[in-house]
Amino acid sequence: MRTTSLTFLFSAFLCAAGCSDGGDGAGETGGAGATSGSGGAGATSGSGGATTGTSATTGSGSGGAAASTSSATSGSGGGATTSTSSATSGSGGSSPAPARVPAASASTLREAGEKANPPLLIGAAISGGGLNDNNYKRVAAAEHNYVTAENEMKWDALEPNPGQFSWGAADNIVNWARSNNMKVKGHTLVWHSQLPGWMNSMTGATQVEQAMRRHIENVMGHFKDRLNHWDVVNEAVLTDSDTGVGNPRMRPTVFFNALGERYLDLAFQIAREQDPTAKLYYNDYSIDARNEKADFVYEMVKGMVERGVPIDGVGLQMHIGPPNNEAGGADVAYNLRRFADLGLEVLISEMDINRCGDVVTADEQLTYYHDIVEACFVMPECVGITFWGINDGRSWLNSWSTARCNGRSSESLLFNDQYQKKETYNRVMDALLGR
Ligand code: XIL
Repeated sequence: MRTTSLTFLFSAFLCAAGCSDGGDGAGETGGAGATSGSGGAGATSGSGGATTGTSATTGSGSGGAAASTSSATSGSGGGATTSTSSATSGSGGSSPAPARVPAASASTLREAGEKANPPLLIGAAISGGGLNDNNYKRVAAAEHNYVTAENEMKWDALEPNPGQFSWGAADNIVNWARSNNMKVKGHTLVWHSQLPGWMNSMTGATQVEQAMRRHIENVMGHFKDRLNHWDVVNEAVLTDSDTGVGNPRMRPTVFFNALGERYLDLAFQIAREQDPTAKLYYNDYSIDARNEKADFVYEMVKGMVERGVPIDGVGLQMHIGPPNNEAGGADVAYNLRRFADLGLEVLISEMDINRCGDVVTADEQLTYYHDIVEACFVMPECVGITFWGINDGRSWLNSWSTARCNGRSSESLLFNDQYQKKETYNRVMDALLGR
C-alpha cells in the first residue's frame, strides 16, 4: 500500500543536480535557540486535552516547493502512508526551512542520512558488551554515524564515588565511535535514574548544586575535544502513567527537591560555560504523542527559551509501545514542529517499538517505523534519529520489568539476532529515501 511520493521523484531530480555528500552530518542546521530566547514564530500552544490537538499542518502556505510535496502525515495506528500534506506550520512568522531532500539511492541507513540534504545523523545506542561482538560492531558502524552510550556515560558509571571519576568504559565507546567516523552524544549529565546512592540521598541546595556543577564540569571537560552534543537533562517531567497521561508535573528528584525547577536552567547554564559551542539538549519519553506530558514539556521548554536559557534542542525518545506511549507519524510531526517553532533543533533520540504483549501489532510497528522516521526526515530542524540498540536480542526492553517481555525478545529494532535486516529496516530506509 505504499505510495511513491512526489517528494521522491522531485528530490531524485534535485540530487542528480548535487546532493550534499558525506561530511559527518553534524546537524548544524536549524536551532538558533542557543541564546536567543526569541520565542517562536507561531508556536502552537497545544495545551488542552490529552488526545485532541489539531493537525500539525497549520501552515500558512510557506515552506518551499519541496516542503509542499512531502509528507509527514498518516493516521496514527493504521493505514499506509498518505503522502499528501506537509509537516510545516509556523504560521505568522518566519518560513520554515524547505523540506530535507533525500538521496537518490543508498545502500545503508548511514549513507542515506549522509547523502540527504541537509544530512541527517543516523544513530544507535551502543553498549560496551556489544563491542565485544564483531558482527555487532560491523553492523553498528556500517549503518550509523552517531553514537549514544547506552549506559556508560550515566552518572553511576562515570562518578561512582563523590569526585572520583571512572572513564574507561565510556572512553572505549567514544574512541571506537570516532575511529569509525561517528559523532557521539553524551548521555546524560543530569538524570534521576542510574544515580549513585551517595548522590541520590543528598540534600541541601548548596550541596546539590555543587555536586551537579562538579559532575557537569568534569564530564564535559573530559570529553570536550571528542564530542559536542549533550543530553543535559533527561526525563525531568513525570505523569501518573508512563504513557504521558495524568497529572503532569516536575519529577521530584534529588535535584528538584533541593533546587526547585531552576535546576534545569542551572544545568544548561553550567554546560554552556563548559562549552560555548556544544549542542545542549533536553531529552524525554512519551512526549511523542499528543498527550498531557508532551504539552507540559512543551510549556517548560518554551519557558526556558523565553528566559534565554542556553538550550539548543529537544530529543523525543520515541520508545513506542509498553511501557510508553504509542504515537503515529502525524502525532510525532506535531510535536517535532512545535518544538522546532521555538527555534530549537529536534531529534528522535532513543527509538524502538516494542511488540511484547501485542499492544503494537506487527503491521502497526511497520507503519510507525516508516511514518515516524518520515516525520523527522522531512524537517531540516530534525537533526538525528537514534535507534535504541542494534539487534533485538540485546534490546533493553527484553528485561525491562514494565515492558511486558519477561525475557522474551521485544522484536523492537531493525536487525534480528543474526544481524540480518528485518522489514522494519526496509521501512526506515524507505522513509529516508523519500518513499
Ligand atoms: C536504559 C538502558 O537501555 C538499559 O540498559 C538500562 O538498564 C536502563 O536504561 N531512557 C533513557 C535511557 O534515557 O538511558 C534508558 O536506557 C532507556 C530510557
